[in-house]
Amino acid sequence: MSFDECYIKSVMRTIPDWPEPGVMFRDITPLFKDPKALRMISDEFIQRYIDTDITHIASIDARGFLISSIMAYQLNIPLVLVRKKGKLPGKTIQREYALEYGTAAVEMQIDAVTEGDKVLVFDDLIATGGTVLAACTIIKELGAEVYETATLIDLPDLGGSEKIQQSGIPVHALLAYE
Ligand code: PRP
Ligand code: ADE
Ligand code: MG
Repeated sequence: MSFDECYIKSVMRTIPDWPEPGVMFRDITPLFKDPKALRMISDEFIQRYIDTDITHIASIDARGFLISSIMAYQLNIPLVLVRKKGKLPGKTIQREYALEYGTAAVEMQIDAVTEGDKVLVFDDLIATGGTVLAACTIIKELGAEVYETATLIDLPDLGGSEKIQQSGIPVHALLAYE
């Protein structure tokens, strides 16, 4: 079954003015109720990375967990977690990032990745790019290499994917919403 962008967009749902006025919220939950859509998306990502030398997938809390765990299973490589702060036990490394109002932070356990690892960073969506860039910063600080960022949805108008690419990290997105 080859990837069909029109089909995936027909399954997706957009909720205007959520969680606040002016936001067009791209809701991925219907994709998980549709096995055909979930398989199409997962297979498309798996095909892209099956013949690469990536060693780990760094999966971003929470919506990023859903597809990346399927990828890690099928690629038979480790999945490491990038969580919102305060969720991971043991020694962690944390980075803040800017939100529209204020800041948030993500963290990883310090033994999640190390020198010599080639890490694919996965999140469901890139808006301002703050979340992915914070994750990439942590991975590099742990001594590993970021191979690229993969995402289901890019919102190019918010400039995040451009910012990530300008920092030297390629971005691969299956869908864009202007
Ligand atoms: C959403 C989305 C991305 C992030 C993108 O996550 O799943 O992770 O925002 O925004 P950015 O590019 O501006 O950083 P959110 O933090 O809302 O929470 P969730 O994944 O836990 O639902
Ligand atoms: N995260 C940040 N912006 C978003 C949007 N417009 N839709 C869904 N998730 C998001
Ligand atoms: Mg998220």
